[in-house]
Amino acid sequence: MEEPSKRELVLGIAGLGTVGAGVVKILTGHADLIAARAGMPVRIKAVSARDRSRDRGIDLAGYDWYDNPVDMASDPEINLIVELVGGSDGPALALAKAAIEKGKAFVTANKALIATHGKALATAAVGSGAALRFEAAVAGGIPIIKALGEGLAANEIKVVRGILNGTCNYILTRMEREGLAFADVLADAQRLGYAEADPTFDIDGIDTAHKTAILAALAFGKEPNIASLPTEGIRNIAPVDIEYAKELGYRIKLLGVVQRTDEGIETRVHPAMVPAGAALANVMNATNAVVVEGDFVGQTVYVGAGAGQGPTASAVVADIVDVARCGAGGFAFGIAPESLAPYVPVPVEKHRGTYYIRLRVNDRPGVMADITAALAKEQVSIESMLQRGRAADGGVYIVLTTHETVEAAISSTLNRFTKLECVLETPTMLRIEAF
Ligand code: HSE
Repeated sequence: MEEPSKRELVLGIAGLGTVGAGVVKILTGHADLIAARAGMPVRIKAVSARDRSRDRGIDLAGYDWYDNPVDMASDPEINLIVELVGGSDGPALALAKAAIEKGKAFVTANKALIATHGKALATAAVGSGAALRFEAAVAGGIPIIKALGEGLAANEIKVVRGILNGTCNYILTRMEREGLAFADVLADAQRLGYAEADPTFDIDGIDTAHKTAILAALAFGKEPNIASLPTEGIRNIAPVDIEYAKELGYRIKLLGVVQRTDEGIETRVHPAMVPAGAALANVMNATNAVVVEGDFVGQTVYVGAGAGQGPTASAVVADIVDVARCGAGGFAFGIAPESLAPYVPVPVEKHRGTYYIRLRVNDRPGVMADITAALAKEQVSIESMLQRGRAADGGVYIVLTTHETVEAAISSTLNRFTKLECVLETPTMLRIEAF
C-alpha cells in the first residue's frame, strides 16, 4: 500500500450531498478530537460534486475542486478517498477501482456498491494493500459493521435481524398510530421530506436487501449477492392487517433477516409479524435496529439513527479514524475475501415458520369448512382463527395463524384458497418471525 503518511491522512471527498457536507462539518468542527483519536491530523485536500456553486453550509474555499471524482484517485497527495456519490456502478465503482488499484484507502457509505461489488473490491484491496471500509453503508450511525466484524468475531452467528430502512419504519409507525392507509402516509412522508421523490428503493425493500446482503457477508462469510435475495416491500400492507397484528400480539415491521437453518443460510427481506414484546417491535419512526444472536455472546441489540447527516457522517468519520489507526489492517468483511463463499440461496419455499393469513370471504354456511379443508389437504395446522363482523356486501374477514410449517405448503394452501368460490380477493400472507 501507498502507506498513509505517518504525519497526516489526506482526504479526497467525492459527493457533497447531505452526508458529504456532514463529513466536512465533523472533520472541521472536531479537528483536534479526530486528530487525537486518529493519532495524526486528518486533512481534507480535495472535494468533488456535481454542482460547485450550491450552498451546503460549509466553506469549500480551502479545498481543491475536481469536476470528475475519479481524477482524485490520481492526486499523489491524497491517501484516502471518501466516496459518497452513490450507485452500484458508474463513477462510484470507477473511483473505487482507481483508488484501490493505487493502494489508496477507500471509505464509502454506498450500500449498493458494496452489496454488488463487495467481494471484488475487497479482493482488490487485499491485493494492493488498500484499506476498504463501509460502516455507513448499513444502518447509518449504528456501528453494526464493526460489531459483527470485530466485536462478535468469537461467535458463530445464529441469526441477524434488522429494521434497516427508516422510511419504511416511519410509514408503518404512522399507519399504526393514525390508522392511515399506506399511500396516504407515503404521500405525507414525501411532502415532509422523509421519503424520496422516487421511494421505490425504500418501500420495495431494495435498500434493505442491499444492507442485508452486506450483513450476510459479515455474519456468515457469504459473498454479498442481492440477485438471489428474496425481497418484498411494504406496499401491500393494509391498515386492517396492522389492526389484526395488534389483536394477535404482534407489530408489522419490514425486516432484513440472515439466519442459519438446517437448509443453509437463509437471507430474506419482507414485512413480518414481530411479537409485541420483542426489541424490534418497539423500534418506532425512522429509527433502525439490529439484533444479533451469537452462540457464545447470546443476543445483542443495536439501536440508532439509520440515516441523516449527523449519524451517517459519524460512521464515515469513524472509518476514517480507523484507517488512520490501522491502515489496511483487518478484513473489510471480517474474513479474508478469498474465503467469502458464493451465496447459494435457500429457496424461500423451504423457509419454515408460522404464518398469518387474511381472507375476505362470503359469509355463508360451509365457508369455514372449505377453508379448513384446504389447510388440511396441505397439512397446515391452524394455531388460531377469528372472524369479525359482516360488511354490507356480505364480505367478511377471516384471519388465521398457523403452527410451524414449510412455506411451500403455505403457497399451495393460498392457491387453493384463491380457487375457492367463497374467497373474494387475493389472500394476504405475512410471515410471523419467531424470536
Ligand atoms: N433511505 C434509507 C432509509 C437511508 O430510509 O433508511 C439510507 O439507506
